[in-house]
Amino acid sequence: MAYLIGIDIGTSGTKTVLFDLEGNTIASASYEYPMSQPQMGWAEQDPADWWEATYLTIAEVMKKKGAKKTEIKGLGLSGQMHGMVLFGKDNNILRPSIIWCDQRTTAQCEKITNLVGAKRLVELTANPALTGFTAGKVMWVKDNQPEIYEKITKILLPKDYIRFKLTGEFATEVSDASGMQYLNVAKRQWSKEVLDKLDVQYEWLAPVYESYEISGLISKEAAELTGLAEGTPVGGGAGDQAAGAVGNGIVRSGIISATIGTSGVVFAHTDTMNISSNGSIQTFCHAVPHAWHNMGVTNGAGLSYRWLRDEMCSVEKIMGERLNVDPYELMGQQAQQVEPGCSGLLYLPYLMGERTPHLDADAKGVFFGISAKHDRRYMIRSVMEGVSYSLLDCLNMMRDMGVNTKEIRASGGGGRSSLWRQIMADMFNTDICTINSKEGGALGVALLAGVGVGVYSSVPEACDATIKQVSKLSPILENAKVYEKYYEVYKGLYPSLKTHYKAVSQIISET
Ligand code: XUL
Repeated sequence: MAYLIGIDIGTSGTKTVLFDLEGNTIASASYEYPMSQPQMGWAEQDPADWWEATYLTIAEVMKKKGAKKTEIKGLGLSGQMHGMVLFGKDNNILRPSIIWCDQRTTAQCEKITNLVGAKRLVELTANPALTGFTAGKVMWVKDNQPEIYEKITKILLPKDYIRFKLTGEFATEVSDASGMQYLNVAKRQWSKEVLDKLDVQYEWLAPVYESYEISGLISKEAAELTGLAEGTPVGGGAGDQAAGAVGNGIVRSGIISATIGTSGVVFAHTDTMNISSNGSIQTFCHAVPHAWHNMGVTNGAGLSYRWLRDEMCSVEKIMGERLNVDPYELMGQQAQQVEPGCSGLLYLPYLMGERTPHLDADAKGVFFGISAKHDRRYMIRSVMEGVSYSLLDCLNMMRDMGVNTKEIRASGGGGRSSLWRQIMADMFNTDICTINSKEGGALGVALLAGVGVGVYSSVPEACDATIKQVSKLSPILENAKVYEKYYEVYKGLYPSLKTHYKAVSQIISET
């Protein structure tokens, strides 16, 4: 038998999955870790936690039924994007990683825009300076921790740090590298012009591969820790969104995905590079050679739902433990009892600022329209609806850019809820489909590694061999009409609150 492994280094945890060549899950293991928020809007993680979670989950999967180590043909890495891992002398990590949802870099983004020029920055990197991207985080270290900046020898992304630990190689690949803001996205290689203007040394960055290319081999030390065979090939992999897209078969134009993970993402494959006029839809290299992708990202999607679970749903948590049922399932049952539109309770999911449609690090979450009638069931449903309205914002912006949105596939933890999928079908006025695998990013990078080692001849061929549509929910007209009306109100809320968000941020920074 032959197998492939996919590892997804996420924000809440790392998951390692063993697949057969038909894409079936043979074994999986996951391990959670914390995120620290030293100040409002900041988000950091310890790369050592990612590494511990990675080797422990690989070791667990290797011990479960299934594969002999020599049967693992390749391994792929997917990861949360944009996070900054700084190496110094002797490859020591210089500080905790500032991760994708950290919002501290507004001033640095302005600086980057001025240094490169707003138009030139978009020409080269395909995107405006965004607070989530790596370049702003590195500039923040330069401005605020110069003693650390001076010591930098390498800047890595989260999954590329794990690659280094597994193989000893410094490498990245086009999809994740696009989110650093140092890549010439059209040419799929580092932009010397951007690096020079931002005072970042070329040697600090790792060689860039295509996502399917083999970037290194499992080292002796990693083999001992994980139970893998020394020399197992490690593919380039992909940023979590491109990886998830491959794992959902989004490798041709026309099929797009709506993913509710920690962030919420609408993702489309494009055969030519397509840039949005105001920059709030991102354009990155796809994990498919010679292709790009557009994506709209709402920062607080699953993050909002997790926050709600942790802060307001202790009943479901306790019941879940007693009944051995996922608390999210119990929350879904509560939400199901409430009518679409939540009798006017609307939720704005901006718990970590926002990227699409509003590029605004100061934006914050809101429950709007609470009346005495509303109980916790309404709050649960309104969070699901608010996240879906935000995804609709992303979808509409893509439709305006001319992106073909014929079929929408739901994925991520939120996409597993049939209620959440029905809400999306009603709001988007489109069929929402699911596929046979729920492994998303882990499957995507396992398939990419499979292409790299010659198991499949191309990325689309790998997807055709493994991915099938298994369900379809169609819009319910009556619900669609309700959502259409509330969406108009929803769209009006952010503009009315924009100046108030800024004022609150100002007060917080002064106190
Ligand atoms: C994509 C993005 C998120 C993170 C974490 O641009 O910021 O998807 O990768 O999931």
